[in-house]
Amino acid sequence: MANKVDFTGVQWKSVEWTNLCLLYLRAHESKLARPILGDHVAAQDIERIDYDFPRMHRALHPDTNQFMVALRSAQFDAMIDVYLDRHPEALVLHLGCGLHSRGLRMARPDGGPWYDVDLPNVIALRRQLHSETERYRMVGSSVTDPRWVEELPVGGPVLIVAEGLLMYLTLDEVAALLHRLLDRFDSGELIADYLSPWGPRMSKIFTAGLIKWGTRDGAEVIRAEPRLKPVDSSPIMAGHERIPLSRQRLLYRLQYALPAVREYDRIYRYTFDNSPTTR
Ligand SMILES: C[S@@+](CC[C@H](N)C(=O)[O-])C[C@H]1O[C@@H](n2cnc3c(N)ncnc32)[C@H](O)[C@@H]1O
Repeated sequence: MANKVDFTGVQWKSVEWTNLCLLYLRAHESKLARPILGDHVAAQDIERIDYDFPRMHRALHPDTNQFMVALRSAQFDAMIDVYLDRHPEALVLHLGCGLHSRGLRMARPDGGPWYDVDLPNVIALRRQLHSETERYRMVGSSVTDPRWVEELPVGGPVLIVAEGLLMYLTLDEVAALLHRLLDRFDSGELIADYLSPWGPRMSKIFTAGLIKWGTRDGAEVIRAEPRLKPVDSSPIMAGHERIPLSRQRLLYRLQYALPAVREYDRIYRYTFDNSPTTR
């Protein structure tokens, strides 16, 4: 086992703590006999981290909440796999990566470069767990800062992945980010989830307005960046039939039947192609 890392300084309810919670939930889910996501790298990471996990466990209700995280991440993983099977050479931009192990699990051994991007304090934490290689890079920057984009290679296909990120930006920031990225690459896909308009409303009450933007159906994104062609979309809770615990499976089924809950967080997939014949 690699060396232990000390995360005891991570403040309760900070951004870093939220990422540690998500990592913990993925690790917890990986221990099920029939996991949906099965993120064993997350489990290895948690084993290495020195933190008050018993306290976190009590706060998180992981037996129920592990599936919210696993269902969303498993859908992202499946879409990423499909794209990378077709374009193993693509550059991957994993935006708002947090402590997600995806780049370590999914990057193709001889494939294109994988960039994990998040705020500097989150990347600093991440660097304690994992190291860069020639193909695996970590960028500590706000995604809204144009400078990190200017350092990226130009052209080629790109896969842009933004799980649980874009709701923290304003629509103008989302549009500016997408313009910048789509100007830089020839073709690619964007996979991102958006919250419903309830996201920012609830955030004003519960999370000090951290969530800035929500959308009914993502139409604003297409209007802002018409080069994006929608392919498909699905609620993050799709696939709940696979939940291996009967009580939780029933709970998720009931929640899925309520439109406001089902539509609270939805994953969207788009393609774009800047080559002259397709414009
Ligand atoms: C809810 S977490 C999701 C993390 C990860 N995608 C996952 O699923 O575990 C949101 C992440 O977005 C990051 N984030 C928020 N605003 C950002 C910004 N402007 N630039 C880069 N990252 C940002 C946060 O630091 C955090 O890591």
